[in-house]
Amino acid sequence: MAFTKQTVRDIDLKGKRVLLRVDYNVPLENGQVASDYRITESIPTIEYLLEKGCSLVLMSHLGRPDGKSDPKYSLKPVAEELAKCLSKPVQFAGDCLGTNALMAAQSLAPGNILLLENLRYYPEEEKNDKEFAKKLSAYGEVFVQDAFGVVHRAHASTDAITEFLPSVAGLLLEKEVDTITEVIENPTRPLMAIIGGAKISDKIKVIEKFIEIADFIAIGGAMANTFLLAEGIEVGKSLAVKEDVPLAKEIIASAKAKAKKQPFVFYLPQDGVVATSLDAPRSTRIVDWDAQVIADIESYPKVPKESASKVAADESILDIGPFSGSFIAGGAQLAGTVVWNGTMGVTETDGLNNDPVGPFAHGTEVIIDGLTGQFGHRPFTVVGGGDTVAYIEERKLTKAFNHVSTGGGASLELMEGKELPGVAALPDKKKTLEKSDTIKHKKK
Ligand code: 3PG
Ligand code: MG
Repeated sequence: MAFTKQTVRDIDLKGKRVLLRVDYNVPLENGQVASDYRITESIPTIEYLLEKGCSLVLMSHLGRPDGKSDPKYSLKPVAEELAKCLSKPVQFAGDCLGTNALMAAQSLAPGNILLLENLRYYPEEEKNDKEFAKKLSAYGEVFVQDAFGVVHRAHASTDAITEFLPSVAGLLLEKEVDTITEVIENPTRPLMAIIGGAKISDKIKVIEKFIEIADFIAIGGAMANTFLLAEGIEVGKSLAVKEDVPLAKEIIASAKAKAKKQPFVFYLPQDGVVATSLDAPRSTRIVDWDAQVIADIESYPKVPKESASKVAADESILDIGPFSGSFIAGGAQLAGTVVWNGTMGVTETDGLNNDPVGPFAHGTEVIIDGLTGQFGHRPFTVVGGGDTVAYIEERKLTKAFNHVSTGGGASLELMEGKELPGVAALPDKKKTLEKSDTIKHKKK
């Protein structure tokens, strides 16, 4: 279903002062922007508005400063990064409220850009406070919502603000909603979902949705450990959520029920990379709890040691193993569409000798190969979720996928079929004349 809300293309914006909500909640390292993906993805809308002769007041949150001013969460480095990306000055207002910010906004000439300080320095933002929204509305003549990453929150700058200004969607919001909705409602089949991440309970709704609509689901990441526990496999010290085991059992049961009725695969890893410590592990090994392939080959003609198929009590599973990685990447060779959310292992651990791929990132790497055509077939790929995007951005691979979402929670909620408050608050597109009416009109 195409995007049903009015966008910047639907209204006259010539020479207007635009209040633009962006999601510049980006990771910072040593006071600098560590990943500029959310910034670069906001540029098409900014450039579109600048071409219309608009002046722009940008607003965003960064992190969770809990309603208090905290320099750790300042957007100032973001203003500098944005200026670099645009090759154009970006003014910065050190407070998102107050006369200084207002005066700076009012004296913007066409083509000028002002970024306001973190909205979440005020508790009113997250409380969806109307008075606060009204104050923000004084910065512009029109409100443009382009912060896809935060439209799943009903906050003053995503919801209440639309009561005070004519409001439309930006190009990023439109692209995100269109692309994600399309793969859920009308995917080129077979549809495969690869789901990783820490907790089943965070992604339960989206797993249920994919059991309903997908042809193949592969599970990786720490959440796989909870599923393995549910299957009676020992996981040692692995991150697993015991309380979620009954939930995992229910999911496995509903997947099995679907597989009885139609071709459907619900895949849990059969091997893993384990180590006793995450940081600078002394040694890593592959445990083959199900496939037995590696253990048998390594030991032939002897019987493999029991430890080859068992995670020891002091070990943790930190990545999917090579057998599981190949199986999932192979599945992707038969898929028309793949939706991927969550890395397969602990991708944050650094590799040795400046190797960009760490010891627990190989599972994720083989999935990337499978999705980006390294084995021949290239399915249509949609990637979501903060950690997944951070990893492929670090590997400079965002362009290798069809769509890499700027939203974590927002993309999950959209896939689940939940209404996004920041989208719902925008006015619907005006109904165009029925086709038959147009023809009649022409005949006259
Ligand atoms: C995100 O990064 O998830 C969005 O910017 C929303 O932030 P939040 O989860 O702190 O509301
Ligand atoms: Mg979040």
